[in-house]
Amino acid sequence: MKNFFVYLSAFLILIILALLIWIKKCNNEFQIVKLQPLLVKNYPNQKDEIKEIFNDFLKPEFLKSEPEETKNELYDFFLSNKNKDIDKWHNYFRAYYEHFKKFKDSAVNILEIGVERGGSLKMWKSFFGKDSKIFGIDIDPQCAKHSGKDITVIIGDQTDIKLLKNVNSKYGPFDIIIDDGGHIASLQIISFITLFPLLKENGIYVCEDTHTSYWEGYKDITNEYTFMNFSKYLVDLTNQVHFSDCKNIGVSFFSANCEYMHFYDSMVFFKKKKRKTPAHERR
Ligand SMILES: C[S@@+](CC[C@H](N)C(=O)[O-])C[C@H]1O[C@@H](n2cnc3c(N)ncnc32)[C@H](O)[C@@H]1O
Repeated sequence: MKNFFVYLSAFLILIILALLIWIKKCNNEFQIVKLQPLLVKNYPNQKDEIKEIFNDFLKPEFLKSEPEETKNELYDFFLSNKNKDIDKWHNYFRAYYEHFKKFKDSAVNILEIGVERGGSLKMWKSFFGKDSKIFGIDIDPQCAKHSGKDITVIIGDQTDIKLLKNVNSKYGPFDIIIDDGGHIASLQIISFITLFPLLKENGIYVCEDTHTSYWEGYKDITNEYTFMNFSKYLVDLTNQVHFSDCKNIGVSFFSANCEYMHFYDSMVFFKKKKRKTPAHERR
């Protein structure tokens, strides 16, 4: 009987400890609803103004359903394509054009994960021009038929790290890598961690369709470990050189080699560029 009470007490203490850890974790979590009262605490004489700016900032809006206003040659190609073989969201073309135009008409090396009907590979070839080389990876053996002059399709799984490294050694390094494959968290994350470090200097990595981070059925690791949450972690690393402990332990490869991340609806762009310690002075 005495043992029973010892075990019960130990069990209850464990539960309480777990609860305390959980409460502490929740309190540290960034939540916009907590921000307003915290700011009021710092600026009590602006209580009403803070309330007003938060109300305006968080006011819900319904987006209009109107055609995309983008005008550029990549989007024109998509709009005039009659083959039904390109699968892209209209809003992607503005961002693509902005990030990709500097590679146009050069001997650029492009890899797209996810080939399906092959139309996007043809679109890249037409946009980047005669000196470009276009590669696609797809798990579906049917996609092999989309190989052609200057377009090479490799059949394989985007989570197969050896395959990705082999593709890079054989056909890379790449200037641009586009992940439009399976859109499942572990697929996106494994491909990114494998291929981003292998990109050419000044290269661009794009992960498409990141809205799947919010869709059931695509969160195959846990609900938390989505590509968007992974990207939010990486955003912090772009500032890692300013972390208080980095003088002693250095920064991560990502921090040392990612110049910027751009976020759009459903896409994240990463630019690879070796960084230097930022210099600051007052002049
Ligand atoms: C959305 S489609 C690609 C569309 C194409 N990029 C376009 O813009 O027209 C996704 C493709 O990813 C492929 N896929 C799914 N899981 C994959 C994996 N684990 N590895 C490689 N490809 C995969 C599918 O077979 C499919 O063809």
